[in-house]
Amino acid sequence: MQSLTLTRPDDWHLHLRDGAAMADVLPHTARQFARAIVMPNLKPPVATTAQAMAYRERILAALPAGLAFEPLMTLYLTDNTSADEIRAAKASGIVHGVKLYPAGATTNSDSGVTDLRHCAAALAAMQAVDLPLLIHGEATDAAIDVFDREAVFVERTLIPLRRDFPGLRVVFEHITTREAADYVREAAGRIGATITAHHLLYNRNSLFVTTEGRTGARPHYYCLPILKRETHRRALIAAATSGNPRFFLGTDSAPHPRGEKENACGCAGCFTAANALELYAQAFEDAGALDELEGFASFYGADFYGLPRNAQQVTLERRAWRVPEQFKFGEASVVPLAAGEELRWKLA
Ligand code: DOR
Ligand code: ZN
Repeated sequence: MQSLTLTRPDDWHLHLRDGAAMADVLPHTARQFARAIVMPNLKPPVATTAQAMAYRERILAALPAGLAFEPLMTLYLTDNTSADEIRAAKASGIVHGVKLYPAGATTNSDSGVTDLRHCAAALAAMQAVDLPLLIHGEATDAAIDVFDREAVFVERTLIPLRRDFPGLRVVFEHITTREAADYVREAAGRIGATITAHHLLYNRNSLFVTTEGRTGARPHYYCLPILKRETHRRALIAAATSGNPRFFLGTDSAPHPRGEKENACGCAGCFTAANALELYAQAFEDAGALDELEGFASFYGADFYGLPRNAQQVTLERRAWRVPEQFKFGEASVVPLAAGEELRWKLA
């Protein structure tokens, strides 16, 4: 197969940041995707509908002429999010989900939820108005091994939460383990999961690599939830390529300035917006499942969110090319995932 034409896909999990940095990364996404669920973990977080509306306007104002792109906004759930705020968010028509960051789990999660019991009113309102809860699913107890935090979250938090709110629509974001994939496949009720390209392509060996006689830590492969063992990567591949509509594309593209990645305490996040579809195509082709890419990338997410599927198409061509070493990112630069590596597919 030399070219692959798909319905234009959407990105169901994206970090766009703000200001000049946002203006630099937004065109990469808009070239690849028609819509994206935009994460609210700015500083300060996007915690109200008014803030989401203002952020949406800033994104649209930064969009270069000729690129069609629709940002789908989210709210950042805090211990203090009220039921009224949830109802206002739903009524706005521009907010498509509410993001749960357990406090301390990841980048800009310090305003996150310290205890889900504080959110009972907000969660009840979300269930009532059918506004999805988007979950960063990692236990935050520092005593838990970082590679186990997702599996522990499923048992300790996700299962009880869904028992208490069985009608709540849930997206388990960026799943990284067999346990999460199994749970999503088998659970009752309305649940979906996004899967990143990097968790499909790489296991945790990629964090610590040996090439040409050199060994080292590779900060651009560090994200949260962290890359896992090969057994988990295989389980994610099986889920993504299964044709099960509960699994859909979410890049979790999370740009950071180069200096904040290549750092004694480097930030978590992989920047994949510029070559996302190419990375996914490679992962699906390696699994012998290119025919499942369109459902995963272009249909199932829209169906889950209750939005129309896109009408336009995009084409990928089989053409070897090298991923650039960096892109402009405000005053700094951002290093893409797989920088300098050769990929097989290229968006036309
Ligand atoms: O690696 C990550 N980066 N994981 C997250 O959950 C947040 C994200 C970011 O905002 O940088
Ligand atoms: Zn994210």
